Amino acid sequence: MHNATHNAIPVIAIDGPSASGKGTIAELVATELGFHYLDSGALYRIVALAAKQQNIAWDDALAVAECAKNLVIEFKNSQIFLNGADISEAIRTEEMGKGASRVAVHAAVREVLVDLQHNFCKAPGLVADGRDMGTVIFPNAPLKVFLTAATEVRAQRRYQQLINKKQADNDTQSSYADILQDLQERDARDQGRTSAPLIKAKDAILLETDHLGISQAVDYVLQNFQLKNCK
Ligand code: CDP
Repeated sequence: MHNATHNAIPVIAIDGPSASGKGTIAELVATELGFHYLDSGALYRIVALAAKQQNIAWDDALAVAECAKNLVIEFKNSQIFLNGADISEAIRTEEMGKGASRVAVHAAVREVLVDLQHNFCKAPGLVADGRDMGTVIFPNAPLKVFLTAATEVRAQRRYQQLINKKQADNDTQSSYADILQDLQERDARDQGRTSAPLIKAKDAILLETDHLGISQAVDYVLQNFQLKNCK
């Protein structure tokens, strides 16, 4: 439960679709404030990876939920360990992004991850990034931001990220058209599911990042947090 102890600790909930810039912005805001950071998408990616390793179909809700219950996940600095193995890179592929959005439709899977996410809420504060931070996981967060940008802008950003990665490890063949299509499918699945769909919380501030640089977006979030804190 999101109990009274948690309520005393400030949470900034940053939600939005893929490649909206959430992760980068949330991490920078957390660093700036000295707050903890929760990358909730990583948890769904880890579940997708673990299911694949155990030959469990992503669509098998109960088997995936059972698998998720038994995972030992550790976050150490910027590395993530699953049952002792460093899977920081393995979860960042496009395949695991798609797998994450497939396992994330199951209410039973989402339920298993709730306590894990609440445990990130520690003093002096938390910046939580995902799809349902402001609506389901931290509904009492004093500041909620919904980050978005046009689909084509987001697809272009993701494409650029993959090109940059390709220079590093030469492992992607994806075209812009594939990425745009994947993004549209992922958006539709995340928005259309019945359990914790991607939607702006009523009390969230809408921030469109099409023409906004990262540092402008970070400043905007920080300014709004100061305003909330002064009340
Ligand atoms: O990096 P990107 O924004 O593409 O994805 P992510 O944040 O790593 O999340 C991967 C997938 O996990 C999303 O497409 C969602 O389906 C799911 N997810 C979710 O359902 N709820 C969250 N709080 C975070 C992620």
